[in-house]
Amino acid sequence: MTSQTEPSSGSLEPARKPAIAHICKSPLAGSVIMAGDKSISHRALILSAMATGSSRISGLLEGTDVLATASVMQQMGAQIQRLGDGIWQVTGVGPAGLRSPEAALDFGNSGTGARLVMGVVAGAGISAEFTGDASLSARPMARVTNPLALMGAQITANEKTTLPLRLAGPPMAMPIDYVSPVASAQVKSAILLAGVNAPGQTIVRETPITRDHSENMLRLFGATVDSQMQGDQHIVTLTGEAQLRATNIDVPGDPSSAAFPMVAALCVPGSDVVLKNIMLNPQRDGLIRVLRDMGGDIEICDERRQAGERVADLRVRYSQLKAVEVAADIAPSMIDEYPALAMAAACAEGTTYMAGLHELRVKESDRLSAIADGLRANGVTVEEGEDSLSVSGCGQARVAGGGTVESRHDHRIAMSFLVLGLTSAAPIGVDDTSMIETSFPTFFSLMEELGVSFER
Ligand code: S3P
Repeated sequence: MTSQTEPSSGSLEPARKPAIAHICKSPLAGSVIMAGDKSISHRALILSAMATGSSRISGLLEGTDVLATASVMQQMGAQIQRLGDGIWQVTGVGPAGLRSPEAALDFGNSGTGARLVMGVVAGAGISAEFTGDASLSARPMARVTNPLALMGAQITANEKTTLPLRLAGPPMAMPIDYVSPVASAQVKSAILLAGVNAPGQTIVRETPITRDHSENMLRLFGATVDSQMQGDQHIVTLTGEAQLRATNIDVPGDPSSAAFPMVAALCVPGSDVVLKNIMLNPQRDGLIRVLRDMGGDIEICDERRQAGERVADLRVRYSQLKAVEVAADIAPSMIDEYPALAMAAACAEGTTYMAGLHELRVKESDRLSAIADGLRANGVTVEEGEDSLSVSGCGQARVAGGGTVESRHDHRIAMSFLVLGLTSAAPIGVDDTSMIETSFPTFFSLMEELGVSFER
């Protein structure tokens, strides 16, 4: 159910932090450990907060998106304590233990936090107001509130169903069998989280398959989750009234953040780096597959398992990249990596065509247009379609550079163009890098460890 409300104030915007990237005088070298994965960090906090007992999380990503999730779960009754760098202890409330927060929940810039916690609130029979910053308040929420309404939640929102909105869960959520109209792990996860306390089986059907971290982690916490392919449809079935039990989680490194040093090493001549502890979930490794198709020298070393996920170290060496066609069906496995891929494409020989990009229009910014405008401002020929992008690479001739890019409150746009500036003939400026804190707070120090510094 959707009704009207007046917008209330969301997050304060952080102070702007411009930066300039100059061409690298020496290759990137060395070995670095990647910070924890953002998707897994959100889920580790949420599920430990819902479980019975105390969970210890190590390697938690301490970006502002994840910290917002920690703080909202605390507002709803979980006890959350930071024990040291990336080490957190969460004492969960157990079934039916969450309480309605007194103040509005502020998710800052985080779509994942807001959408997943909507599922939690819907399933816990409590109510909460959801707020966020300007970027998050422009993003569509109906994709999540529609299925949650079918489960019995009442939603009070504006006509566009954007934040701020209020969501009230029913005393007992109803299980649903839902065909998701959008390929979104956030939608799937919100429904599954609402289904944890529902009686019976909650089923989500998605085409194509999206990242399955919620399914994997629900199993780690003791829930029964079946997952199978039927033709090209992925069907996830969660058995409700699940008794989640605390567990310890060692969060693997974030492949979406690794994309930036990876593309930098492939594009700066002579580079040879090792990126350690990278998660290689098959729904997250699309960028590695595409970059290898482009001729990128990426070696997968020391494969192992961590927190129910495949993990490895990646050795990445400079390579003269060649353009490829990137088919639409790979998009869900690299949905956050197109800004980084577009920079690699700008350095490659030939024209790279990327299809199936409509979801990029509703990320932290309209990423399709942010990438296209930023590349054009730096002398790269680009064609922006409704849901596609063609980038004519400069190859040996080098990207011209010399432009200033508008990051549009988008961390990945800011990091992508800083990486491009390491290889362009003239420096590339980025108007604001403050949002990098949301997902990759160690970006600047990690790049420094590899021998790169930026003018800030
Ligand atoms: C995420 C899912 C993706 C991704 C986001 C993280 C998640 O969003 O873009 O950064 O952790 O579930 P969609 O579900 O909108 O595709």
